[in-house]
Amino acid sequence: EGVTGMTLKINGTARTLQAEPRVSLLDALREYLDLTGTKKGCDHGQCGACTVLVDGRRVNSCLTLAVMNQGKEITTIEGLAKGEELHPMQQAFIKHDGFQCGYCTPGQIMSGVACVQEGHAKTDDQCREWMSGNLCRCGAYPNIVAAVREVAG
Ligand code: FES
Repeated sequence: EGVTGMTLKINGTARTLQAEPRVSLLDALREYLDLTGTKKGCDHGQCGACTVLVDGRRVNSCLTLAVMNQGKEITTIEGLAKGEELHPMQQAFIKHDGFQCGYCTPGQIMSGVACVQEGHAKTDDQCREWMSGNLCRCGAYPNIVAAVREVAG
């Protein structure tokens, strides 16, 4: 199958790659652009490990084709910190011990950022509901909710 050229705007930088049109945004990030902070768990929309923001909304990057995301603003876990200063959500995850093995953490943090930005973190229940698509096999859920709720203020 033929490859096609595409340009993706990721964390404020235009990145070009050559890939088949069937390549997912997740694989484009990890396999073509070396942005391996975004994780692959299930590769079919059930675990949330691959969560990124597209135009500010959270997206499971395994479920969308890279080629369809041209012209959009993609934010990955690598784009959250400002230089050496971690994003408040990253700081809150450290403070509240919001991870154990860490594999789901980038996706949890991206979902948490969207949760606060979109106003779904006003109560613990609301936060749990919003975050329910992000699985944590270690069971760090209470600490994750505590972190997100702190950032929500
Ligand atoms: Fe995308 Fe699991 S890898 S939801």
